[in-house]
Amino acid sequence: MIVAVDGPTASGKGTIAKALAAHFGLPHLDTGLLYRAVGRQCALNGGNPDDPFDALTACAFPDSLVADPELRSEASGGLASRVSVHPEVRQALFRRQRQFATQPGGAVLDGRDIGTVIAPEAEVKLFVIASVEARAQRRFAEMREGGRDVSLDAIAADLAARDERDRSRKEAPLVAAPDAFLLDTSELDREAAIAKAIALVEGRVGKTAR
Ligand code: DC
Repeated sequence: MIVAVDGPTASGKGTIAKALAAHFGLPHLDTGLLYRAVGRQCALNGGNPDDPFDALTACAFPDSLVADPELRSEASGGLASRVSVHPEVRQALFRRQRQFATQPGGAVLDGRDIGTVIAPEAEVKLFVIASVEARAQRRFAEMREGGRDVSLDAIAADLAARDERDRSRKEAPLVAAPDAFLLDTSELDREAAIAKAIALVEGRVGKTAR
């Protein structure tokens, strides 16, 4: 079975996708990492992430870059959001994601357009949301834990700007597929959000589906 988990930054979709993959014994792909790798490679090349040619050139990033911890930074997230608006970039990353989604036995993918573009035939689609306040609080706590000196207001402003860019781009904007389950994690802790996601999948395909 293919499970598509989409939603905005810091909604909890990555945590949920990882947990679903472990629970159902499926491989997992965080597709945001691919866009982050393109953004980072573009910066390493000295390119401009808003330029389609520079962004497309960066799609030839080495596989090893995907494991670079720097990809998890807010700066890489911002660069990813900028390179991801170019249709050329989305096209270049399409095959890799599609192949992962359609591998024998199935897979869990998380991103922005998995249920709408990459795997519209997915058996289960979750669209994970949370209020900007809840998401900013989570990022704030994560970053403070990591010893970073950040302001909650700056994080909230950055999240809102990124949401706006992801939602308003012409190509594959962030939007729930009509057949997606909406999962709002604003008031849920990690365990409760995971339990709810597992129940939604099981409700759709049964307890033993793989
Ligand atoms: O999920 P994330 O924060 O790692 O994603 C970083 C950026 O990558 C996000 O702002 C938009 C882009 N992205 C995308 O356009 N399509 C995807 N399937 C995944 C991420």
